[in-house]
Amino acid sequence: MIKFLDLKKQYLSMKPEIDAAISSIIESSAFIGGKPISEFEAEFAQYQQAKHCVGVANGTDALEIAIEALDLPRGSEIIVPANTFIASSEAVTRSGHKVVFCDCRADNYGIDIEDVKKRINSKTKAIIAVHLYGHAVDMQALSDLAQQHNLKIIEDCAQAHGAEFQGRRVGAIGDIGTFSFYPGKNLGAFGDAGAIVTNDDTLAKKVRMIANHGRVAKYDHVFEGRNSRLDGLQAAILSIKLKHLDNWTALRRQAAEYYLSHLSGIKDLVLPQADSRVKAVYHLFVIRSVYRDELKQFLEKHGIETGIHYPIALPKLKAYDYLQQGQEAMLANQLDSQLLSLPIGEHLSEQELAQVVTVVKSFFAGKK
Ligand SMILES: Cc1ncc(COP(=O)(O)O)c(C=O)c1O
Repeated sequence: MIKFLDLKKQYLSMKPEIDAAISSIIESSAFIGGKPISEFEAEFAQYQQAKHCVGVANGTDALEIAIEALDLPRGSEIIVPANTFIASSEAVTRSGHKVVFCDCRADNYGIDIEDVKKRINSKTKAIIAVHLYGHAVDMQALSDLAQQHNLKIIEDCAQAHGAEFQGRRVGAIGDIGTFSFYPGKNLGAFGDAGAIVTNDDTLAKKVRMIANHGRVAKYDHVFEGRNSRLDGLQAAILSIKLKHLDNWTALRRQAAEYYLSHLSGIKDLVLPQADSRVKAVYHLFVIRSVYRDELKQFLEKHGIETGIHYPIALPKLKAYDYLQQGQEAMLANQLDSQLLSLPIGEHLSEQELAQVVTVVKSFFAGKK
């Protein structure tokens, strides 16, 4: 079986380091707050080329807290790509604002900035730039647009640890950036975890207070916040895993190159295209075909696991019926039946990648 994800294999490759880190947290009872957290925050801020990093409980909280910290007028419109995980839009509504979905691009399925332009009006106050599948959004075009209309940019980097646009790492290019360390992410914890990064001192301070009951010191609460903390065990594990991330990312890029060169030129199969200004981290390798369901079954029959990201475009979900965008003639509303994520990650051997290529090719050979 060629696995889509193999977290056990990853753990076994660094078991002594991880086990020692976990034991040390338990021995010192450093479960909440303290050195493990501040160390990881400093390491991750440096990794993402951001001035500040604040650890939080998960990537969804990170988005909610980031939006809250921006202090936008209640009921503001925030533009969110239609092709992403629901957390990107859920956080908008839960923070008291209105979701406006925009379309995705045909080459890498990320946010379509031309479509964003059409959706801006006087109530629009922010854009969620989701660096989807590990491809960085065109932050140049988006920043120009945001400046022109006085909009805030929240970068949702849940799938893009270390991804770059024009040599800059994502997260602190816009106003504020959010990360998820969900176990299956490129940098994943052993449970839920997340972080917020920014270059803005005031925002960093606000975010830290919101995530910690609005306090400046023990029992000194300036406003009502919430409890959303990165815990000590997760921080210690993430610090260890961060040391391996560049190596894992290099392997993801190699795998992507391999797929791109060996699967090109197949009729009815569309490969993702990377912008030359972007260094993608390939959290997912998403291909497109009108034969998606049949291809998925064929791969499964040949022992290859795949995924679908995402099977239902957000505007078509029941949760968003009220927005009435499910019937809009958007690319995102059509592509959900064609996208397929091939296995990618440091767990795959060259032979396994070759096997995926062989099986995909044999499927399309049968379609001639
Ligand atoms: C694009 C995107 N945003 C936000 C999230 C939410 O992260 P979490 O699962 O840590 O809450 C995820 C991950 O699941 C995601 O893929």
